[in-house]
Amino acid sequence: MSSPVDNLSDSNEVSLERVQSICGRSLVFRHADIRDEAAIYDIIRCCGVTAVVHLAGPKAAGESNVQPMTYYENNVLGTMRLVSVMTKTKGQEACL
Ligand SMILES: NC(=O)c1ccc[n+]([C@@H]2O[C@H](COP(=O)([O-])OP(=O)(O)OC[C@H]3O[C@@H](n4cnc5c(N)ncnc54)[C@H](O)[C@@H]3O)[C@@H](O)[C@H]2O)c1
Repeated sequence: MSSPVDNLSDSNEVSLERVQSICGRSLVFRHADIRDEAAIYDIIRCCGVTAVVHLAGPKAAGESNVQPMTYYENNVLGTMRLVSVMTKTKGQEACL
């Protein structure tokens, strides 16, 4: 079972419906932010997650120059918190 996790900061649930339609299978969506360690911990624990593919990173070069700290917090701290939770829960393959 695949469970996309997204804070919907740059997407919406219509995209998820389209992905399910293309794949022909259901996905269990989790609305959460990768910077929220408690939420990610609960998701990994409750779902028995065995692999994490991390794509939750904004990437607009121009905007990152205007809002560098926002991008730092999301992309650097977010990744660090995600890896921290994976280190605590152990056992997942990672693709970052
Ligand atoms: N699109 C490309 O061609 C491409 C190529 C190489 C690498 N990448 C990398 O892959 C990643 C994803 O690219 P994309 O094109 O799918 O980007 P995207 O902006 O379409 O998707 C990123 C998703 O992450 C979510 N998100 C952002 N911050 C989050 C957070 N803190 N917690 C939870 N969800 C969060 C957004 O809502 C969005 O749905 C980026 O890091 C990008 O640099 C993309």
